[in-house]
Amino acid sequence: MINVTKPFLPPREEYDSYLDQIWKNNWLTNNGPIVNELELRLKDTLDLEHLLFLSNGTIALQIAFKALKLTGEVITTPFSYVATSSSLAWEGLTPVFVDIDRHTLNLDHRLIEKAITDQTTAILATHVYGNPCEIEEIENIARRYGLEVIYDAAHCFGTTYKGTSVFGFGDISTASFHATKLFHTIEGGAVFSNDPEIIATMSRMRNFGHDGPSQFTGVGINGKNSEFHAAMGLVNLKHIADIMATRKRQYQLYIEKLENLEVQFQQINPDATFNYAYLPIIFKTENDLLTAIKALNNHYIFPRRYFYPTLNYLAYVKNTACPIAESISKRILCLPLFHELSDSAIELICRVLVRTQRYHFTDKKTKGFVVKANGKITV
Ligand SMILES: Cc1ncc(COP(=O)(O)O)c(C=O)c1O
Repeated sequence: MINVTKPFLPPREEYDSYLDQIWKNNWLTNNGPIVNELELRLKDTLDLEHLLFLSNGTIALQIAFKALKLTGEVITTPFSYVATSSSLAWEGLTPVFVDIDRHTLNLDHRLIEKAITDQTTAILATHVYGNPCEIEEIENIARRYGLEVIYDAAHCFGTTYKGTSVFGFGDISTASFHATKLFHTIEGGAVFSNDPEIIATMSRMRNFGHDGPSQFTGVGINGKNSEFHAAMGLVNLKHIADIMATRKRQYQLYIEKLENLEVQFQQINPDATFNYAYLPIIFKTENDLLTAIKALNNHYIFPRRYFYPTLNYLAYVKNTACPIAESISKRILCLPLFHELSDSAIELICRVLVRTQRYHFTDKKTKGFVVKANGKITV
């Protein structure tokens, strides 16, 4: 069976040596020495001055909204994981959906201004599948209207934009270090900001608002993470260069083997070094996608419809039509991609897809849909 993803597990003895340390320290959580070490190592690896390690990427978003004192409406994308919208709703904020760009799959910055009202306090954009948004354009709009910018960079470990970690952009960026991510701490996440005061606020917020053992400044939550999770992060960091190099090679093999499949690939920001975290392909029709899933399932291959459905029709948000996101979401499929995935498995997946296209897709020659596998799209 080949699933869409499989968590990376480091050699057991490497984790065991951290367990020995934890037993020796007798310190399990509450900003322990291993959490501190992970934070320092992450700052070095990412070349960033400030970050906080948190319990997950959803709490990271919620703490970001609180730290920036957001109220009212937040302009956001309908094409992301549910946590991007649910965290807004959970914090009593109103997501206002703006459609995406059909090539990059990120929030379309050209549509943001029209959605701004006197209630808008922020823009929350996801760097979809690790592909950086149009950062300058979004930040220019935010500056003009006095809005905060938060990037949901859950997928972005290892991605850079103009030579800097993409986590370094926006008023706050957030990350997820969930087990399925390129870099993981089993459960985990982080917040990033270049403003030390915002970091200090978020640091109190992740620890119930504590500002000393018996002092509190502002409302807080339990957003801490444990020594066990940090230890997994430290071990995984030793392997991250190898994980990323393998991922790039696997991605390129897919692209090469799918050359004759008439699907669209995500257009990657030319100013980025991409992390190749996911392999999404966009079929011409939903019917073709369903046919492809069935054929893959017959070979015990389980890709994932991700992101599907779009977030603008969740029961607890104000529904707004976003036709591009809705159309893409019905036709996009993430193919299996994980460290242990063998070349022969990738070749099998590609063979099944190409064969299925030949015999079963609805229209093999849809006019105006020519997309080349190098990500350069001609429509
Ligand atoms: C885009 C996006 N945002 C937020 C999250 C939430 O992160 P976590 O699972 O660490 O809470 C995820 C998780 O998959 C995600 O993909």
